[in-house]
Amino acid sequence: MKISIPLFSVFLAALLAGCSPKDDTEKKIDGLLGKMTLHEKVGQMNQLSGGEWLVESAAKGEVGSILNCVDPKEINAVQRAAVEDSRLGIPILVSRDVIHGFRTMFPLPIGQAATFDPELVRKGAAIAAREAVSSGVKLTFSPMLDIARDPRWGRVAEGSGEDPYLDAIMGEAMVKGYKEGGLASCVKHFVGYGAAEGGRDYNSTLLTERALRNVYFPAFKKAINAGAETLMTSFNDNDGIPSTGNKWLLTDILRDEWGFDGMVVTDWNSSGEMIAHGFASDLKHATEISVNAGVDMDMMSYGFISFIEELVKEGKIKESRIDDAVRNILRLKFRLGLFDNPYVDETAVDAYAPDALEAAKQTALESAILLKNDGVLPLKKGRTILVTGPLADAPYEQMGTWAFDGEADHTVTPLDALKDKFNVIYEPGLSYSRDNSTAGILKARAASSRAEAIVVFVGEEAILSGEAHSLSSLNLQGAQSELISAMASTGKPVAVVVMAGRPLTIERDLENCGAMLYSFHPGTMGGEALAELLCGEAVPSGKTPMTFLRTAGQAPMYYNHNNTGRPNTGTETLLEDIPIAAGQTSLGCTSYYLDSGYGPLFPFGYGLSYSSFEYSNLTLDKSKYSAGDTIMVGFDLENTGEYDATEVAQLYVRDLVGSVARPVKELKRFGRITLKAGETKHVTFELPVSELAFWNADMEFTVEAGEFQLWVAGNSAEGEALSFNVI
Ligand code: NOJ
Repeated sequence: MKISIPLFSVFLAALLAGCSPKDDTEKKIDGLLGKMTLHEKVGQMNQLSGGEWLVESAAKGEVGSILNCVDPKEINAVQRAAVEDSRLGIPILVSRDVIHGFRTMFPLPIGQAATFDPELVRKGAAIAAREAVSSGVKLTFSPMLDIARDPRWGRVAEGSGEDPYLDAIMGEAMVKGYKEGGLASCVKHFVGYGAAEGGRDYNSTLLTERALRNVYFPAFKKAINAGAETLMTSFNDNDGIPSTGNKWLLTDILRDEWGFDGMVVTDWNSSGEMIAHGFASDLKHATEISVNAGVDMDMMSYGFISFIEELVKEGKIKESRIDDAVRNILRLKFRLGLFDNPYVDETAVDAYAPDALEAAKQTALESAILLKNDGVLPLKKGRTILVTGPLADAPYEQMGTWAFDGEADHTVTPLDALKDKFNVIYEPGLSYSRDNSTAGILKARAASSRAEAIVVFVGEEAILSGEAHSLSSLNLQGAQSELISAMASTGKPVAVVVMAGRPLTIERDLENCGAMLYSFHPGTMGGEALAELLCGEAVPSGKTPMTFLRTAGQAPMYYNHNNTGRPNTGTETLLEDIPIAAGQTSLGCTSYYLDSGYGPLFPFGYGLSYSSFEYSNLTLDKSKYSAGDTIMVGFDLENTGEYDATEVAQLYVRDLVGSVARPVKELKRFGRITLKAGETKHVTFELPVSELAFWNADMEFTVEAGEFQLWVAGNSAEGEALSFNVI
């Protein structure tokens, strides 16, 4: 039996919207639109990057939005030209990539996701918004909601990782935070961009409608429901259709099904790039396709401003489509209050306020993931430690990718911060992450004789992750692994801190240290946060938002995959154990790699603490549920260790039999639970049965009746399953 959750509410909303009297904003838009020439309308659809010619273009009404200009004086000059010198005085929309902070850099979005703390992420976004708005920015191209299951793809740094639920929760938090700070958001990249073939940026994807609906759409839908004002198309083609020219995506789904009334902007020249895709013959053709697909604003292809008027005259684009696009743009400008106050106060720039630094530090604290600890951490304060590694004192690198407006001289590095807590001997070992020289390693080794313990800061320079920065090997670059093993050979306790933009393959490095703390580039306050964690003033609580691989060859690997017909048994024979001249079927024929086995290095949701936790008494309020019910999941969580600490408890489910195969586990709830040493708390998660719905074989969004399993645990690989039924 199927319990359908009808799309009725969507139709009803659309129907009501159609019948309701126009609100004031819509009337104002109508009024303005009525006065605009086609040239002026097209001008609104043009988004240009900063430059001196902007003032002139703005005065002619040929620019609707700018990006990459953050100087309040320059912004006001362009704005003045648009408002005071152009015929209709329509203000400019100023946009910028404010991705993980503006001046105060917060940890990378992937690090923010590792906090599993949406409230803190919301707060961080509100602070980033406040700083950006004070410089005149009104729209950020964030949050990036691309599901990322392949760490070779450099842009995993910019999103919330591999899980649709976590992605949606974090995206919603960011949208709310930006809104609070007066900044409009742009959900991107619509859609599937993170599934790029081979992890090579910009590459093709082959995602079915069901995969899009079950995995890639939910975060966009949630962010739009939370009030995201704009959406950016993605660079990739899916099944041969570039997103920027995909009418099904941009009109049928986004407008007709979801009722989005915001603005759709291309990615940088993604309209023009449809020529290279082999989808458009020239820029005029690309423009025709993009606009007819449902794009409202062109970022930097110059195609709209050059060809729309001609295309309308030729009947290839209807003027009504242009009117709709301009409506979407003007609506945003009205909603942002730009018509009332287009200017920014040049004397009120807000940066690095104490609450911003505090929130950035808290986020860095909560985002660090303890991957291993043989008792090396925390280090006792006041000891003599050797600090080494290319990331120990790299203020620019620790800000991470998209730190356009962050300033390295405001960054506190671990070296700075550790000096307040330890007697520090500093010997960098390597001067940057790709450094292959060995002279420095010898010096560091020599210096270690004076130290009681060693902390090695390794990872990636900021340039190694982010847009266009894909890698085919995910091992530490340069001689960083050699530096770690040289330190291990001293026999002193070694703690490794990794600061990177992606989950690297660090298996061999783990063997050479007693403890490893993984911190995705932690931003301005990363040094202070890491120092507090290393000395035990704070206790790690971050969890992996992506699966950590043993080798890059395992990618893509993610916890919420479907089962094969031949799941692994845990007894697979690995390469070194295969007998000579083994028979073809003698290894058992299950799904695994002969060299790296079946599983990852660390599963999704994994992270240790200086304390330890025990889950017990998992109960459900019933064993059978109907469609409208809410499942009450209760459990006890005990802090069995010696530190007051926070655990991220995670609830997973599996739908055992479906009309299409369902993932082996899916995250449905999580919570950060803080317990004093020895304390036990009873915790309840509420899960409405409706949240078990998925797009089934008939492409209906439905909860299918049948048996489910449910786990509550500290990561996606642990926990005892309970069963329940949906009837
Ligand atoms: C290209 C990137 O893909 C996108 O995420 C970004 O917002 C734009 N450039 C603007 O910088």
